Amino acid sequence: MGGLVWHGRYHTAVVSPFMADTEKLAAVRMAMPSLAAGIQLNTGSVGPMPAEVAAVMTELAEYERTIGRSQFDYYLELLDRMQEARAGVAAVLGASLGSVALTHATTDGMNVGTWSLDWQAGDIAVSTVQEHAGGLGPLYALRDRLGIDLRFADIGDGSDDERTMAALDQAVAPGTKLVSLSHVLWSTGAVLPIARIAALAHDRGALLLVDGAQAAGAIQVSVDETGADAYAIPGQKWLLGPEGMGALWVKPSAMDRMRPSVAGHFSLESYDSRGSAVWHPDARRFEGSGYHRPSVAGFARAASWLSMYVGLDFVYGRGARTASAAADALAEIDGVELLTPRHQMATLVTFRIRGWGAQAGLDELAVRTSAIARTIVSLDAIRISVGFFTTEAEIERFLEGVRLLAAHGPDSLPPRRTLPIFGEG
Ligand SMILES: Cc1ncc(COP(=O)(O)O)c(C=O)c1O
Repeated sequence: MGGLVWHGRYHTAVVSPFMADTEKLAAVRMAMPSLAAGIQLNTGSVGPMPAEVAAVMTELAEYERTIGRSQFDYYLELLDRMQEARAGVAAVLGASLGSVALTHATTDGMNVGTWSLDWQAGDIAVSTVQEHAGGLGPLYALRDRLGIDLRFADIGDGSDDERTMAALDQAVAPGTKLVSLSHVLWSTGAVLPIARIAALAHDRGALLLVDGAQAAGAIQVSVDETGADAYAIPGQKWLLGPEGMGALWVKPSAMDRMRPSVAGHFSLESYDSRGSAVWHPDARRFEGSGYHRPSVAGFARAASWLSMYVGLDFVYGRGARTASAAADALAEIDGVELLTPRHQMATLVTFRIRGWGAQAGLDELAVRTSAIARTIVSLDAIRISVGFFTTEAEIERFLEGVRLLAAHGPDSLPPRRTLPIFGEG
């Protein structure tokens, strides 16, 4: 077990639920070639793509190049792949198939969700002081175009649920139309108490739109249990799929209050050009423009690869354990300040190194450890993303680099490479 076998038309690692974790990890890593190119610690931006996902995309791109794109059969194939992608997302989010709309990114889903309400000047929308541009963009667009009353709950670094709830309690006035925030903060990596926030929002009459960019595929998400009305996710981060794809889950009971603002061929069950338009009864009504077919197939394959080959228990369990261990080890280094709350973290770990600006530190770590991570500019901090595929050895190598930086500071750091000197007497 554990080797490569011919599965359908792609090489796939055999991953069985009966395998020991180490054997499974080896098989999974073999199926993710880019893991050999460096220590991949930036899945929170874009994740490493499994070979199988790349293979299906290449196959379709090749088909388009040699056979063409305009055959009707190929269009029907697209519809099947779109359904497969929705089903893959539904499996990851514990959702029903009809509640998933395909989008082009988290940001796209947040735009679709935000603009789906009947906004009037003066309507209240509430977000937090820790949001990503993907969720903020549509709120600022609404404010600047329609004059909505946009409020920001000061939840600090998101590490204290009581502070988070108190800040939202104050900001979400009765009659608020929308609460829009992240499940997992992209900055400190804190997990927000979404179910409590949903209850508060609903109590005040608001809908809850959640930015799930750092949650979907990273931690177990059951959209019904979140209490959210809509939940936007990307394809390219923790789901390990292509860029240009994402999804928006819409709670069926919220479908009456949320209506399409961006619409087209894929949103409509039937229509003519004399005024008749019948919307899809399910979340497909939120699908506006068309899709890049290789990417749809890649997205579908990525979601099912995670849940069917790797197994979500392994994904979440190993990811959480490895990320926690990395956070603990960082916190123990003299000169490192951990910004991620240990008691409510997901798979992002954010920290500062004494004496080092984030970018300078990251540049140095990249050269010394071949780690690929990113900075959070607003915090002048480094953020690593730890996945189920990250090994202890990779973390240790990265930590070695951090220890070196923390011990030295930029001016006293030993040279990057000490070459052996031969011939000295
Ligand atoms: C919390 C959060 N929201 C939104 C985004 C944007 O995601 P996308 O590129 O899928 O729109 C990111 C990351 O880039 C993120 O971390």
